[in-house]
Amino acid sequence: MLRPRHALLAVLLSALPIAAAPAQNLDSLLARMTLEEKLGQLNLLSAGGRASPEQTALVRRGLVGGLFNVIGTENTRAVDRVATTESRLKIPLLFGLDVIHGFRTIFPIPLAEAGAFDPELAEATARAAGREAAAAGVNWTYAPMVDIARDPRWGRIAEGSGEDPYLGSLLAAARVRGFQESILATAKHFAAYGAAEAGRDYNTADISERTLREVYLPPFKAAVDAGVATLMSAFNDIGGVPASGNAWLTDTLLRRDWGFNGMVVSDWTSVAELIPHGIAGSRAEAGRRALTAGVDMDMQSSIYVETLAPLVQGGRIPMAVVDEAVRRVLRAKARVAALKPVAPNPVEIRALARRAARESIVLLKNEGGVLPLDKAAPVIAVIGPLADNRLDALGPWHTEGKPEDVVTVLQGIKSRVPASTQVLYAQGAGIEDTSTAGFADAVAAARRAKVAILVLGERHDMSGEAASRSSLGLPGVQQQLLEAVAATGTPVVLILMNGRPLILEWAAEHVPAIVETWYLGVEAGNATAEVLFGEVNPSGRLVATFPRSVGQIPLYYNHRNTGRPPAGDKFTSKYIDVPVTPRYPFGYGLSYTTFAYRDLKVASRTTVGSRDLQAGPVRLGPSDTLSVVVTVANTGSREGTEVVQLYVRDEVASVARPVRELKGFSRVTLKPGEARRIELRLAARDLAFYGLDMKRVVEPGTFRVFVGPNSAEGLEATFEVAYP
Ligand code: NOJ
Repeated sequence: MLRPRHALLAVLLSALPIAAAPAQNLDSLLARMTLEEKLGQLNLLSAGGRASPEQTALVRRGLVGGLFNVIGTENTRAVDRVATTESRLKIPLLFGLDVIHGFRTIFPIPLAEAGAFDPELAEATARAAGREAAAAGVNWTYAPMVDIARDPRWGRIAEGSGEDPYLGSLLAAARVRGFQESILATAKHFAAYGAAEAGRDYNTADISERTLREVYLPPFKAAVDAGVATLMSAFNDIGGVPASGNAWLTDTLLRRDWGFNGMVVSDWTSVAELIPHGIAGSRAEAGRRALTAGVDMDMQSSIYVETLAPLVQGGRIPMAVVDEAVRRVLRAKARVAALKPVAPNPVEIRALARRAARESIVLLKNEGGVLPLDKAAPVIAVIGPLADNRLDALGPWHTEGKPEDVVTVLQGIKSRVPASTQVLYAQGAGIEDTSTAGFADAVAAARRAKVAILVLGERHDMSGEAASRSSLGLPGVQQQLLEAVAATGTPVVLILMNGRPLILEWAAEHVPAIVETWYLGVEAGNATAEVLFGEVNPSGRLVATFPRSVGQIPLYYNHRNTGRPPAGDKFTSKYIDVPVTPRYPFGYGLSYTTFAYRDLKVASRTTVGSRDLQAGPVRLGPSDTLSVVVTVANTGSREGTEVVQLYVRDEVASVARPVRELKGFSRVTLKPGEARRIELRLAARDLAFYGLDMKRVVEPGTFRVFVGPNSAEGLEATFEVAYP
């Protein structure tokens, strides 16, 4: 672990909790710093595995506050030693890294894991990743990525929790708690990065203040409330004001309104990018704009350290602004010093990776009960470019993950079938290749088999940063491969490995079974095979809507109604060539068993208490809590886990409200035939929205509540919010 050597800093850092680090300690350190050294603390540079000689020289002069992409304790210690023994003030460095879904042990991508609807799981995987990273000298992750994404063309949808702000907020807080046991976390990308126009990465976000506040900001607020140490300012502009030079965002809203006293770091060169954005004519002006907006650390532009001193000396940037930014960086370092990283336990972490992979898998279709498969089938064909592919199962941003740690789907299947079962493997095609030369082998294997398992999808780097797609079908000739294999008449199970919702129209019509596995990480093959053979009953749900065509995008469940006539009328809001509904809605996912919902009752807990639940008109005062109770029954023949989802709709309000908004959920495991009363609670304040004056308000009136298996189905009840 990194420990400050310098006596003054040691005093400063021993003052815990750091948020309350005594101002006089910081002030006395600041008073000893030259302007150059202050700007040096705001300078963050990327290293290629280890600090270069040039970077080490800058560290020695006190001109670097942090490095990222330094891997391994040997390398972090070496350069930190220079900072803490050879620089004048001996201030230690921050060591950042993109630990997104695991460090060495790779877990499912966040989009997949979010589908488990299990904040405790997200906290556990973040905690494990933090432990592994800390053991390698990292003390700061650039995660969680909490951007809401409503556009699957945007490759970075893979890194977040999908389209819902409520679920996204719970998972943001959970991941912050998990990481910050051992390292500092970063909520990114502040803000509205996921609203990139047309899903094109880095593009402008032109959204209303209400949508910004109601959809894109809540996960950041949740991260701040959970004590996140840092936020990263985004690349994009919002309505013409780039997020890395946006005083309203980073100063007024984040610091003044939300009370955030941590540090803001820019994204990679996003300070310099204020020039091509067109809001700064020079590097110095870009730096001034970003720093005065509240961006404390300059990632990779070197603008603060190289250009701002004359502006401070000339009075164009108040020294107080520089001092405040330096204080925030030093407080972050003090937080690092206060951490007590826990040593990772590889066996436990691997088991956690298996659990996370199991919970993330979503069964999209299972016609005629094709799944689960019989292990003892004489011949099983496993086909496709992702069937025996280690690298791609890791997904984007796999940090120190190693392909050799991955169990592939083919391996997972082979290790589970008896010796009497023959597993035939044919790659069939590449992921993006145009060659169909491998089709013949694939078709021959399928012909000989009882079932053909096709593992198709995207390469790991087709999602993540700078990986937007304009078409969302299976890349290359994989669709043709699927059709060729299906034409054999052998039942097909389609296993998808991908980082975003895909357009699956043909498969949804013609393939009996479809399993969405996303990128599950090191345990991909084991978890997938467990689901295929029924050792695990799938319980994952979609956290991003699957459209029927790219032309429907953006398509998300919590949209507003138009004023036009309902379905069936010519002048309703629709397309003439595709249904208005999605292929698979938010919250959707099947099980090998079936669940039934009945007896939905709502009652105000405050007025009648949970023992006295009644159907019929229920009135909720502004500080009351609603009790929503439903019976969920397992009506099939296997044990299974249902994600019971609660949505509300504000019927009439001063501002049109979404048709449904997720407000609660519960994972419930039921034995065959078992029925259970499930209670979900909803406080009246959870019904607040931004009113006409952009202030949060709960307006009196009628609300509908929906409880069911996804955002498009469920039982309904109503209740009133009434003021006394
Ligand atoms: C750019 C990405 O947008 C950001 O998410 C990441 O943390 C930085 N690069 C650092 O790698």
